[in-house]
Amino acid sequence: MASGPNGGGNGGGGGGGLMKNMSLLRLQYYCVLGAVAGAVLFATLRYMPAAGSGAALSTTSALATAAAPAGSGAGAGEHRKIKGTAPAPAKAAAKVVTKPKEVVVFNFGDSNSDTGGVAAIMGIRISAPEGRAYFHHPTGRLSDGRVVLDFICETLNTHHLSPYMKPLGSDYSNGVNFAIAGATATPGDTPFSLDVQIDQFIFYRDRCNDSITRDEPAPLNMLDFERALYTMDIGQNDITSILYLPYDEVLAKLPHFVAEIRKAIEILHKNGARKFWIHGTGALGCLPAKLAMPRASDGDLDEHGCIAKFNNAAKRFNTLLSEACDDLRLLLKKSSIIFVDMFAIKYDLVANHTKHGSRSR
Ligand SMILES: *[C@@H]1O[C@H](CO)[C@@H](O)[C@H](O)[C@H]1NC(C)=O
Ligand SMILES: *[C@@H]1O[C@H](CO)[C@@H](O)[C@H](O)[C@H]1NC(C)=O
Repeated sequence: MASGPNGGGNGGGGGGGLMKNMSLLRLQYYCVLGAVAGAVLFATLRYMPAAGSGAALSTTSALATAAAPAGSGAGAGEHRKIKGTAPAPAKAAAKVVTKPKEVVVFNFGDSNSDTGGVAAIMGIRISAPEGRAYFHHPTGRLSDGRVVLDFICETLNTHHLSPYMKPLGSDYSNGVNFAIAGATATPGDTPFSLDVQIDQFIFYRDRCNDSITRDEPAPLNMLDFERALYTMDIGQNDITSILYLPYDEVLAKLPHFVAEIRKAIEILHKNGARKFWIHGTGALGCLPAKLAMPRASDGDLDEHGCIAKFNNAAKRFNTLLSEACDDLRLLLKKSSIIFVDMFAIKYDLVANHTKHGSRSR
């Protein structure tokens, strides 16, 4: 039977998981199709109001508010002026002392949304062909093009998010990306696990507030933090590192991963976050690294050549995470929490790869 990926867990306090996970994450080559994923995601963003659920509606309007300068007509945010109303009073009301930023995003996650963090922190030279499809040079992304987060930023008409720990060329005027490739939701399994990313966020916000209190410049003010969109895409590394275990043991561990994500959302909410955009995990049974591992038989492959059991574990994780979001929506006051089914989007990329412009071997 397939042996575990190096570094997988027997509870040992392995500290080098990050680097080991890096090899797993290169698998995101299949995110060559990131552009398509992004397009599908935008479709999700755009058509969300049609879903009709109150929560979905309110976050869409939150997104639309953030996206207002894009002029994309993506939705009528409540702050948008409606044509045909008397212009004079509206103008008078427009003077505001503290002008909030129009789009602010804080992102937490792993390589699915790392825009250069792990490269900067670890001093890793991520080389070509990474970056070739869009930037035409490596950017620290574990992708040959953009990651989904890049497309979200573009849709909101703002520049790509700068990694929290990237010293050169960073611009935090539209938020911060705390995502680090290889990161887990489980604390301690990797150096920049979700709890650390959340601590970094709180540290960053407090330092901004300190600066403001001292009348020094800060990239963002407290209103920006309050109105920002908080996005999260994590859990893939937790799951992929245990897939060598018997299936029932895999399933038994999933609630712990979800509990960590839930805790992170609660902490962010306690610290003023209100708008959340939470990604589920992808079609992990289609990851080339998993498919390249020796297996006893092809009996567990599904119609698209993916490992059905791994995909089922991913779907189970997503169900649990989606339920946690439902729960939090009721629990957390004034919050909008959107769960995005990344499995459906990414599985479609594999299943319908020719349609999306990728040829078969
Ligand atoms: C920012 O700092 C001020 C002054 O120290 C404090 O009263 C306020 O609660 C802080 N705001 C946040 C969001 O931490
Ligand atoms: C593939 O595309 C077809 C047609 O758009 C769609 O009905 C189907 O659900 C897609 N398959 C997957 C696995 O997403």
